[in-house]
Amino acid sequence: MTMREQIEAAAARYPDQRSAIMPALLIAQREHGHLPGPVLEEVANILGVERIWVYELATFYTLFHVEPVGMFHLQLCDNVSCMLRRSEDLLRHLEEVLGINKGGTTPDGLFTLSTVECLGACEMAPVMQVGDDYHGNLDVARIDALLDGLRALARQAESGPTLARPPGR
Ligand code: FES
Repeated sequence: MTMREQIEAAAARYPDQRSAIMPALLIAQREHGHLPGPVLEEVANILGVERIWVYELATFYTLFHVEPVGMFHLQLCDNVSCMLRRSEDLLRHLEEVLGINKGGTTPDGLFTLSTVECLGACEMAPVMQVGDDYHGNLDVARIDALLDGLRALARQAESGPTLARPPGR
């Protein structure tokens, strides 16, 4: 199914096309990896809504990316519960082992590192979202093991068609 067909099918479930912008953006991001201007314009055209409405949502929510991100987008929560359980230390560790600052992407394109607001999983703070997955009760050792696992997934994706889509976006 083309992106247009997917968006039209999703939009048919909503009486107001403005309400369909979020699911449409998720579909577009899945197709393109991120949401550059021409893609936002295409989404607006398909839904027949104002471009600014689409742009506003795409730039407000951290789950949408208007700039390219790495194969794995590491979104570390730095809100209160996670901060109290030392998410700052984890951020410093991630910056050190990845050799990038918050907001950056590793030169090999594997990892983008961001901090985000509460992920709604405070009971397992500190928490980091990678793609659609949440990883909680993190410490340095668990972060290192997670990065190793993601690197192994990337190698697997490179070596064969068994992984249809990088899971980390
Ligand atoms: Fe981090 Fe809620 S404060 S998940």
